[in-house]
Amino acid sequence: MELHHAAATLITLSLFLLPSTTTAHNITAILAKYPDFSTFNNYLTATLLSPEIYRRDTITVCAIDNAAMDRFLSNDLTLGAIKNVLSLHILLDYFDAEKLLLLPNGTAQSPTLSPPPASVQITNLNGGNVGFSPKAAPVAATFVKSVESVPYNLSVIQISAALLISAAAPAPAPAPSEANPTAAMSAHGCSVFAALLVSSAEAERAFEANNVTGLTVFCPVDDAMISFIPIFENLTDDGKQALLEYHGMGFYASLSGLRSTNGEVSTLATDGAAKQFRLNVVNDGDDVTIKTPMVTAKIVGTVLDKDPLAIFQLDKVLMPLEVFRSPALAPSPAAGDYSLPAPDAPAESPADGSHRKPNGAAARFISNGEEHHD
Ligand SMILES: *[C@@H]1O[C@H](CO)[C@@H](O)[C@H](O)[C@H]1NC(C)=O
Ligand SMILES: *[C@@H]1O[C@H](CO)[C@@H](O)[C@H](O)[C@H]1NC(C)=O
Ligand SMILES: *[C@@H]1O[C@H](CO)[C@@H](O)[C@H](O)[C@H]1NC(C)=O
Ligand SMILES: *[C@@H]1O[C@H](CO)[C@@H](O)[C@H](O)[C@H]1NC(C)=O
Ligand SMILES: *[C@@H]1O[C@H](CO)[C@@H](O)[C@H](O)[C@H]1NC(C)=O
Repeated sequence: MELHHAAATLITLSLFLLPSTTTAHNITAILAKYPDFSTFNNYLTATLLSPEIYRRDTITVCAIDNAAMDRFLSNDLTLGAIKNVLSLHILLDYFDAEKLLLLPNGTAQSPTLSPPPASVQITNLNGGNVGFSPKAAPVAATFVKSVESVPYNLSVIQISAALLISAAAPAPAPAPSEANPTAAMSAHGCSVFAALLVSSAEAERAFEANNVTGLTVFCPVDDAMISFIPIFENLTDDGKQALLEYHGMGFYASLSGLRSTNGEVSTLATDGAAKQFRLNVVNDGDDVTIKTPMVTAKIVGTVLDKDPLAIFQLDKVLMPLEVFRSPALAPSPAAGDYSLPAPDAPAESPADGSHRKPNGAAARFISNGEEHHD
């Protein structure tokens, strides 16, 4: 009993100390304590929204549980469209239960991580409910409960459903980019990569499928791409497609977002069920490096960085291990100067070596075995 009490005191004490001693806004760590929000948490990480939350002082995160996430993901959206909807769930004002239930005018409007004019309307409904709606849309969700709060800085609340406007136009999208990605790359030092992309119809389609909802391209500069051509030419068509798609992410990531990111991201080549074709984003000061088991490349320039499209130049070609270890994708020992690392991890390529195209099914971006419970 005595011990019990001491433990409880210790827990209370450490909870009390938490805000001042650790980053109170590490949403990944906060949500990790609640298995019901694991899918939501995984998607915050996968779309690089978590670092955006760390950086803010005043924020409200409207989380939805795994069942609500599953309903939302059944709309088969691109990762970019998912990011646009989840951005609406991050309010740039502080709202805890008390404030929500006593809105001075019965209603409030909050800016969100989705760029203005997007905002979220909060309304006191009859019967003590609180409704949430994307600006100018009907109420999409209601307040369920408060999850955690650090008064006036961070509030995590649960709402009943995703703030989705409709499956066809899930979130207020940023103005479509007027830039043509391949033309921009050709004009800014990545003409060889752009030409290879145009020559692979399937890969080009994978990039274009994301050009409205959000796309980030890492294009190797011409010198790097030219010296890589002999290796590239030895790949099968599927191998070439996978390598090209390995250079894109299906959502918009700004350079400042990448600078505050450390961790794995999926690419257009990722066919979610397995954790394949991932890139590791690693920061060192202002340098952003993109690591793969075979190559570490550095961002050396920005071709374009305007939501929904970002294009960054790399000093090296990203080589997916999944391609170079697969006899069906890289038939000859085509790794050139690069040596294949020892097969430490189990090979993640499909057994038949075929590269299946991702086709936008949202649940496939995140592998199922990825939930961490400490
Ligand atoms: C946030 O917490 C997660 C999980 O505990 C940890 O892996 C990550 O490094 C933390 N991020 C920051 C910026 O502290
Ligand atoms: C809370 O926000 C204020 C500014 O609004 C900031 O000075 C303070 O450091 C924040 N506290 C925490 C624990 O993040
Ligand atoms: C409430 O409404 C009044 C009149 O429309 C406005 O002046 C005031 O700023 C509103 N208060 C809040 C907190 O929105
Ligand atoms: C985006 O892709 C579509 C095809 O899906 C294409 O018609 C359109 O021109 C592309 N937009 C840009 C800016 O490249
Ligand atoms: C390409 O394949 C050919 C034939 O299999 C081989 O002789 C050559 O060394 C390979 N080139 C590179 C750069 O690996």
